[in-house]
Amino acid sequence: MASDFRTRTAGAPWGWDDAHRRLSIAVVGATGAVGRELVELLVAAGHPANRLDCLARRYDKIELENRQKVPVRPLETTQDASAFSGFDLAFLCTPTEISRVLGPALSEFGVRVIDLSSAFRMRDDVPLVVPEINGAELAREGRLVANPNCTTAIAALPLAVVDREYGLDEVLVVSYQAASGAGAPGLATLTYELRREAGLPGLGSEPKSPFVATLVNNVIPAIAEVDERGTSGEEQKIQDELRKILGRPDLVVESTTARVPVERCHSVAVHLKTKRDVDLRRLRELLARAPGLALTDDPHGPRPRDCAGTDPVHVGRVRAGSRGSRSLCFFAVGDQLRKGAALNAFQIAARLSVER
Ligand SMILES: NC(=O)c1ccc[n+]([C@@H]2O[C@H](COP(=O)([O-])OP(=O)(O)OC[C@H]3O[C@@H](n4cnc5c(N)ncnc54)[C@H](OP(=O)(O)O)[C@@H]3O)[C@@H](O)[C@H]2O)c1
Repeated sequence: MASDFRTRTAGAPWGWDDAHRRLSIAVVGATGAVGRELVELLVAAGHPANRLDCLARRYDKIELENRQKVPVRPLETTQDASAFSGFDLAFLCTPTEISRVLGPALSEFGVRVIDLSSAFRMRDDVPLVVPEINGAELAREGRLVANPNCTTAIAALPLAVVDREYGLDEVLVVSYQAASGAGAPGLATLTYELRREAGLPGLGSEPKSPFVATLVNNVIPAIAEVDERGTSGEEQKIQDELRKILGRPDLVVESTTARVPVERCHSVAVHLKTKRDVDLRRLRELLARAPGLALTDDPHGPRPRDCAGTDPVHVGRVRAGSRGSRSLCFFAVGDQLRKGAALNAFQIAARLSVER
């Protein structure tokens, strides 16, 4: 990450106590954008190095912000869950197809699994959890928990507050998603393109871009594949996952997702209708004290550049819509590598009743 986007770990250790520090933990995909962030969180929370095993495709090491080097060993085969023998908990920060194999195998082997991919999110027997909203789901049977899509988690936190108080009727989410949402290759591509556009020397070889077009100086108005109806994979995830997390299968959700040339932090413009009249002053009070949220009065904020590396979802531009007292608009920004991924998964782990 660029040096002005330092992670601010003010919230550490996020409820990670001595009992958690006795857990033997595997982070699979530790060299990726999300895995690396998870290792940072675990180390910042004081998890001992001898109870933290980092895995990826190949031998590597990651350098943390405190300059500590953490070794990464290769996962020889995704078929052999016995490689995880002795672990209490595994975070799968891996592509969906790898999680699909490892998740069930590890749970059968007795390991608690928190999966950050989309492999299990919509399965009825797997809780899909944002702890501040539906943490009670973690009491359910089963060793596998799914972490939501990053944009969904960011939009869900303020939406849950509105839903509890005024009842959501319909929601429109438009996203502006950072390059690192496409993982380490996305970030490497943006960094390379920025340097190339600036004419900087020592460019090195061009990374393989995960984007369909040059990202710098651009906006790409669809994320992931677009289906025959014209809906992108990311848009479908937001619609399905919001309904599941909010426990509102009936909720009308529309979305458009776009990639923007920002390093980290996804932003969402949300327009919605409620079932009951909205009292804006009361809503602001509720948003200001809701766990996981930070309300701003900045008429031109929140902005990704200021929110990168922070824990909360920042909400601003809260205002009445033009469709009467049941319509509302707001803008929210969250660091998708933290609350949209690693931090949310870490908070799930902190609330699991794992045998220790
Ligand atoms: N980026 C986000 O904002 C975000 C947010 C929420 C959820 N997610 C989800 O989180 C997961 C990880 O995303 P990411 O952005 O961190 O991706 P990434 O930067 O591309 O990292 C992927 C990681 O998976 C490892 N990996 C790939 N194939 C593997 C295999 N066969 N065996 C073991 N490890 C393997 C990679 O190891 P090598 O380095 O050795 O290749 C790397 O450590 C994905 O499912 C993604 O959809 C991402």
